Parts: sequence; structure tokens; C-alpha cells
Amino acid sequence: MADANPTVHRAHWNSRLGFILAAAGSAVGLGNIWRFPYLAGENGGGAFLVLYLAIAFTLGVSVLLAELAIGRLGQRNPVGAMRALAGGPWTAAGYLGTATAFLVLSFYSVVGGWTLAYIVKSATGTLGGESAEAAKLVFGALVGGAAEPVIYHGLFMALTAAIVLRGVGGGIEAANKWLMPALFLLLVVLVLRAVTLPGAAKGLAFYLTPDFSKVTPATVVAALSQAFFSLSVGLGAMITYGSYLDRRGGNLPRSAFWITGIDCSVAVLGGLLIFSAVFAFGHDPAAGPGLTFVTLPTVFHQMPGGALFAVAFFLLLALAALTSAVSLLEVAVAYLVDERAMPRRRATLGLGLAVFFAGIPSALSLGPWSSYTLYGRGVMDLLDDLTVKVMIPLGGIVLSLFVGWILADRAAAALAGPARPLWLRAWIAMCRYVAPAAIGWVMVAGLWG
Ligand code: PHE
Repeated sequence: MADANPTVHRAHWNSRLGFILAAAGSAVGLGNIWRFPYLAGENGGGAFLVLYLAIAFTLGVSVLLAELAIGRLGQRNPVGAMRALAGGPWTAAGYLGTATAFLVLSFYSVVGGWTLAYIVKSATGTLGGESAEAAKLVFGALVGGAAEPVIYHGLFMALTAAIVLRGVGGGIEAANKWLMPALFLLLVVLVLRAVTLPGAAKGLAFYLTPDFSKVTPATVVAALSQAFFSLSVGLGAMITYGSYLDRRGGNLPRSAFWITGIDCSVAVLGGLLIFSAVFAFGHDPAAGPGLTFVTLPTVFHQMPGGALFAVAFFLLLALAALTSAVSLLEVAVAYLVDERAMPRRRATLGLGLAVFFAGIPSALSLGPWSSYTLYGRGVMDLLDDLTVKVMIPLGGIVLSLFVGWILADRAAAALAGPARPLWLRAWIAMCRYVAPAAIGWVMVAGLWG
């Protein structure tokens, strides 16, 4: 076997549950409650939901398992794992993922900063929940500013770095253990309030009745790239988390399904919450990236004890975003620690600062720099498109091909011993042919269409 040498001192998860919750913590984040609802709103609702779920449970879960297997076998960051397992041009896939993670984090942290700002607004009763118009003004004033978006982005990056500094078992695993269940519970309470609002039924119909006549190639690209983004695949975050598993422990396919199930449940709940409220209060479902931030305040306004719920919700959303940001930063930190022998502290602080500076144009792109556009899109939108619609699917293709063609036997032996059960053969065929062809086709049709 040409496996990597076992890295004796590498940190590992303390338990299998801890690993699943940490991976689910990476998956569940702004993607579920901020990005998913506004994309569904822009892409016709129900049909988008169906496409999204179908893709997550076929292509998504396969690529997720592929990444976890690469990580567990390679015992290193994406660059090091690819180099150790195959080397040559495959190593480039590791660099592509690491660069993608860096770029995604630069704008993800800006939105994470908005959630921090909304904790403050809900604590001080200035969310503007009295009407849809008031809520829009509050959001517009925040993202249109010059100082606030940058300061909150900096604060969010500082918090992310603080968790990453403490390492895998202590920081990352510990934070996720209580966070995931708490977020889930609060979300259920909010959904119950939202779906019983007068007028919510129209929102539920929009969200749950698929109208496939509205599906275009662009819708499919949006659903596919959102499914990958939400599952944290395509850029090596799951390789990195898989590398902190020990060689033999755990049932990886089962973990992959759990992570996918948790992630999709939170997205489905997020959609129920947002669309009930969108229609109950007369918001515009196609409002774009501000949708969650302008819709929720109007829901809280209608709840007894709404102020308290608002603080709790934005706190949990910020924390969920943090646990995702942590996994993005960890990709690049693990690279510097493993490959460049840099102390974790130096790597984390240096990269945290670099991401902060890289994110400033995004933070300003809805305010003072909103006139810098290309094809009518500002810096943040362009970065989002480039990373999520192009770099992540590309990463998904390369990693699938890698597992399907290069790692298949070793991965099969690691996952199933000498047996070749049906699911295993299906997964390998998925990685070899189906996933690369399907992702490639969707990208070409969508981006050139
Ligand atoms: N999955 C995270 C979310 O939905 C974002 C993310 C993408 C995290 C890629 C890590 C890697 O919020």
C-alpha cells in the first residue's frame, strides 16, 4: 500500500459523535438559513427544493464520502493528502481546494458579521420588525455602511481564529456538541410560529408545490452548487475533517448520510420559516441575499417574547456560521501546519488576518464600493459566483475522479474490507462516471446557456 506514513502526533476527534457533530457543524451554517432560502426564492420555490434534495442525496453524499475517505486515508490537509495518496498533477486539486476555502471565507465572514450586528440590533430592539419596509431599511443601512460591515467582519474573523487556535478536539469539537441541538430546537419553535401566521399558507404552497415548468439550466446549477456548498464539499473541508479520524474507526458511509440528513433538515426548516413569513408579511421572495435578514424581524415582532427569541436566534445563527467558518479556515491552517511545519498559532493568526483583508472589498461592495461591478454584479456577488458556481463544482469533479479511478481499491478496502457490497460498487461507479459527468454537464449547460 502506498498510503501516507501515519502522522503519529496528529490530533484526532475524541469520539465518533463528536466527529459527526463537527462535520455537521461545518455543513450547517449560513448556507442553510441565509443562502438556501434566497436561492429557492429566486428560483421558483418548490422545484428548487426538490432538485436540491435530490442532488444532495445522490451527488452530494457521494462526494462527501469521497472527501472523508481521502482525508481518513491521507491523514493530512487536502494538499498533503493528495500528494501522499497520488502526487503529480492530483496535488493541484489540493491547492485548488485550499484557495477556494480561503476565498469563500473572505465573503462568508462578511455575512457572518451581519449576523453579529443583528444580535446587537435584536438586543437593543432596533430590528425594524414593525413592517417589511422598516426591516428593509434597517438591513440596507447596515450593509450599505462603510464602517460597520468591516468592523463586524473583523470581529467574526477574530472569533473564528480564536476557535481554530484551540485545535480540533478542544475548540472545534467542543463548540459543536451543544450548538447543533440548540439551533435545531430553536428553529423548530420558530417554524411552528411562522407556519401558523395568517397568510403563511401561500408561502407553504410556493415552497412545497414544485412547478417544474420553471426549471432552467440556471436553476439546476444553482441547486447543485448550493447542495455542494451546504454540504461543505468540493474544497477539501471534509478532507481536512476526515483526516482527524483515525485510520480504522467509524462507519464512514453512515456518517456521510447522517451529515447529509442533518444538513438538509436544517435547510428544509429554514425554508419553512422564511417562506411562511415572506408571504404572511408581504415580503418579496426574490429579494436576494437580504431575504433572511429582512424577513425574520417581522416574525419576531409577532411573537410573545419575540425580543428574546430574536436574540437567541441570531446568536445561534452566528454560532452556526462560526462553526462553518472554522472548517474553512482549518483547511488552510492545516496546510501550513502539515506541509510548512508552521506552529498552529502563527498559521491561524496570519491566515485570519489575510482573510480579513481579503474580505474588505466584499464588506464594502454593498455600500461605498457598490459602483465597482462586472456584468452588473458587485465584488461579493462575483466572488460568490466564482467560488460556489465554478470552483466548488470543479473541485467536486476532480475529487470524484480521483476516488473513482485512483483511490477506488484502497478506499473500498478501507470502507468494506474484502467485501464488495452493492452500495460500495454503486458509490465507486458514481465517483467514476456519474458524478463527474453530471456535474460537468450541469456546469457547461448552466454557465454557457
Ligand atoms: N456548508 C457551510 C454552510 O452551509 C459553508 C461551507 C462551505 C463551509 C464549504 C465549509 C466548506 O454554511
